[in-house]
Amino acid sequence: MKKSRAKIVGTGSYLPHRILSNQDLEKMVETSDEWIVTRTGMRERRIAAPEEFTSTMGAEAGKRAIASAGISADQIDFILVATLTPDYIFPSTACLVQQALGAKRASGVDVQAACAGFPYLLLMAKSFVESGIYKNVLIVAAEKLSSITNYRDRSTCILFGDGASACVVSAEGEGLEIESVCLGADGELADLIVMPAGGCRLPASQQTVAEEQHYIKMAGSEVFKHAVRRMEASCKECLEGLGISEKEISWLIPHQANLRIIDAMAKRFEHLPSDRIFKTVEKYGNTSASSVGIALDELLRRSPLAQGERVLLTAFGAGLTWGAGVLRAT
Ligand code: UT7
Repeated sequence: MKKSRAKIVGTGSYLPHRILSNQDLEKMVETSDEWIVTRTGMRERRIAAPEEFTSTMGAEAGKRAIASAGISADQIDFILVATLTPDYIFPSTACLVQQALGAKRASGVDVQAACAGFPYLLLMAKSFVESGIYKNVLIVAAEKLSSITNYRDRSTCILFGDGASACVVSAEGEGLEIESVCLGADGELADLIVMPAGGCRLPASQQTVAEEQHYIKMAGSEVFKHAVRRMEASCKECLEGLGISEKEISWLIPHQANLRIIDAMAKRFEHLPSDRIFKTVEKYGNTSASSVGIALDELLRRSPLAQGERVLLTAFGAGLTWGAGVLRAT
């Protein structure tokens, strides 16, 4: 029997309406539009309304992905949610998304791979579908990073934004075949990006709040170096595994963490023209797990792929975690 290949058969994304511009940030911390643009390429990011959460944004992106796949919520068998800003530590955000979508038949689970969540979900969904366990898996990557961003810390608050993305991965239908996914992790460097309090090591207390320990802490320039190297290496591992060259890639979608990281990556792919590197960093900033999925959804809406065209995507984040994937239009 021919093995069924997992395909992305529908995509969706959701960005909150409120814009936080560099000019707004100039009024909040000692920074400048010029510094932010030069060092990060960012001009704006989106911020969720008080009544919007990771689950509600994720459900909206999920609804759009299900509609674009041309199926209904009750055909979803499993929901995978990648987030580092879950609504609660428990219950899972996947259960809240399941309820919001009315996907009554679906089981679900949250996955914590920080900004690399999207490729991690892709490999899990591919495995579920190609093993024949499930027919339709909904992957959702959603973040309300504004809830854990310290707007008194200029080294981090300029970077992050809120948003959500989703894909339906299925054994049936036309779409983007998930040809290959390569993942990696290095817990030796867990301290480089961390939210110190709120877990069992440092439960919430008056002291942790007073010490501002419930926010993202990042050793920015160290993380920068690892991001470039790891994303490049995982992309090349994927290409080598498939026996294809970068010349056979139509688009590269890197994690939208910093335009300088994206440019440094681009230099390492000499056959990929710069207009084939898809960027949303200028308008959405770093939306962590959601970033690659939001960019993929925008790319497909803006320039649908011809049959046989390939997208290479890659992400990197806390853990450290990283990953890359190759998608081919069928
Ligand atoms: O998604 C997970 C992965 N995340 C990333 O990949 C992020 C990786 N890191 C970065 O994108 C960059 O390291 C940052 C954008 C965070 C920082 O850029 P940088 O070029 O590495 O700057 P830096 O941290 O080395 O800081 C340079 C200077 C410092 O001043 P001194 O010590 O040289 O006097 C900072 O205090 O820039 C200062 N600075 C700022 N100045 C104005 C830091 N943040 C700001 C700011 N405005 N917002």
